[in-house]
Amino acid sequence: MGALASQRFDTIVIGSGLAGLTFALDAAKQGSVIVLTKAQLWESNTSYAQGGIAAAVGESDSWELHEQDTLIAGAGLCDPEAVRFLVQEAPSAIEWLASLGARFDKDIDLTDWALGKEGGHSRNRIVHHADKTGWEVERAMNEAVRKDPNITILENAFVTDLLMQDGRCVGCAMQDRDLGTRYFTARAVMLATGGAGRLYQHTTNPRIATADGVALASQIGADIADMEFMQFHPTTLYHPQMRSFLITEAVRGEGGCLRNHQGTRFMYDYDDRLELAPRDIVSRAIDAEMKKLQTWCVYLDMTHLSRDQIEHHFPTIVETLKQVQIEPHKHWIPVVPAQHYSCGGVVTDLHGRTSIPGLFAAGEVARTGVHGANRLASNSLLEALVFAKAAAKSLEGEQASDPGALSNGKRHSILEADALRIRRSLEKIMTEHVGIVRRNKGLHEALSKIEELHEEYKTLPAAPPDVYSLEAENLLIAAKYVVQGAIDRKQNVGLHYNLDLATASAV
Ligand code: FAD
Ligand code: SIN
Repeated sequence: MGALASQRFDTIVIGSGLAGLTFALDAAKQGSVIVLTKAQLWESNTSYAQGGIAAAVGESDSWELHEQDTLIAGAGLCDPEAVRFLVQEAPSAIEWLASLGARFDKDIDLTDWALGKEGGHSRNRIVHHADKTGWEVERAMNEAVRKDPNITILENAFVTDLLMQDGRCVGCAMQDRDLGTRYFTARAVMLATGGAGRLYQHTTNPRIATADGVALASQIGADIADMEFMQFHPTTLYHPQMRSFLITEAVRGEGGCLRNHQGTRFMYDYDDRLELAPRDIVSRAIDAEMKKLQTWCVYLDMTHLSRDQIEHHFPTIVETLKQVQIEPHKHWIPVVPAQHYSCGGVVTDLHGRTSIPGLFAAGEVARTGVHGANRLASNSLLEALVFAKAAAKSLEGEQASDPGALSNGKRHSILEADALRIRRSLEKIMTEHVGIVRRNKGLHEALSKIEELHEEYKTLPAAPPDVYSLEAENLLIAAKYVVQGAIDRKQNVGLHYNLDLATASAV
């Protein structure tokens, strides 16, 4: 590979959700930063977060209880050191966000934070901004980065490759809508590209969630783990006009309950914690109930809550449901589980370092070990904050290198019509075979079909560089990790449930 003309910054940040922007703000205290983001600055999973951010800040709470709840939800596979770090750092992380101008709801005296409750938490500990927490956090972060003179922001900048030199990540290549391919180098690269929801037909994630970070890291040989732990949120709207709109878990924290088509509150048959059991358990219970009664959804019932209470806590949900003529104080809401969060990803240590020198990762793309086999509700925004801050702290140790001859991969784009067909096939395979309940035969079939699709992708005629197509290839690469992880996981734990393993252990 020849020498490439590149622009140099101290730090490159890929992604503008909570992880990327937290890191950018702290890194900017140490030098120049460029934020590359593939859509508009605000567009991210972060912007859609509803429930809030978990932190043991209540009077009857402690980091020890938060730690215990996180470990229980993670079903024995969390990294205890990472969990302790997360929960101990949580209160100061919230204070930091508030100091940037993020407005969180206060209690009636306007002194302490008003704390919501969600599944798996033994205390009320969810700091929130009504049911629009992510939007508020992203708003505050966007304002802060736009004001920082050390931060350059490039929107519609799709990163296609990470650049390597002598075993070190020294930069990236990106596709600019107007200018074509551009190259950037830095002493450190932060991968903060978010989740992988677009692997599935039904997801709460927006269009940007195409697992790009996992694919980018995989191309340079970074360690990737736990991708089989794909989290399905129990309650997303089942409606043809608005499929998969999230109905926050905080609704169940406020007293909302689940009913099947016969009106039975079925969680009594599944777990003592009822609707507030960890997500893997509630989603599996809903799946089982739908299969038992051969129905397409179950219902979330809030009709016993007052209209005022519902409108006060969940104004966005009330407004959104109005568009499909559902009034939650009068009607049960039809709900179904949908893909929501990727617990696995690019392996990092407590400082956000990946296995590749020079490359950091934080947020949903990273696998820090805090979620184990199943993430506790509202620990994701927290993880993005805490580990992005830790990574920025460890930047000082990074060596500046002189990127002489850089090597960059050569990405192959295909026509959009072909990419569309491949993406639809992939979503169908993942939904049918790699969902809440899996089977050996389905997993093997999925893997061979995905491999075939990837081979087909590589042999289709080349088209001009195209984001939609490159995302398709990224999804194919990430899908293989999810399926291979599920095949290799020989025990049902947390979010991984293979009916054949359950049957074998019952015999
Ligand atoms: P994101 O916020 O997704 O940001 C990723 C960024 O990377 C985006 O800006 C994207 O455009 C950019 N990007 C991606 N690929 C590329 C590329 N190739 N080149 C350039 N840029 C790229 N968690 C909680 O803790 N509490 C909640 O209440 C909560 N509610 C949620 C509700 C919804 C509907 C959803 C979808 C998620 C929710 N989550 C919640 C999860 C949480 O929002 C995410 O896990 C978290 O915001 C991830 O932050 P992030 O910074 O890692 O990624
Ligand atoms: C929700 O509000 O239910 C989502 C919370 C989360 O994903 O942590």
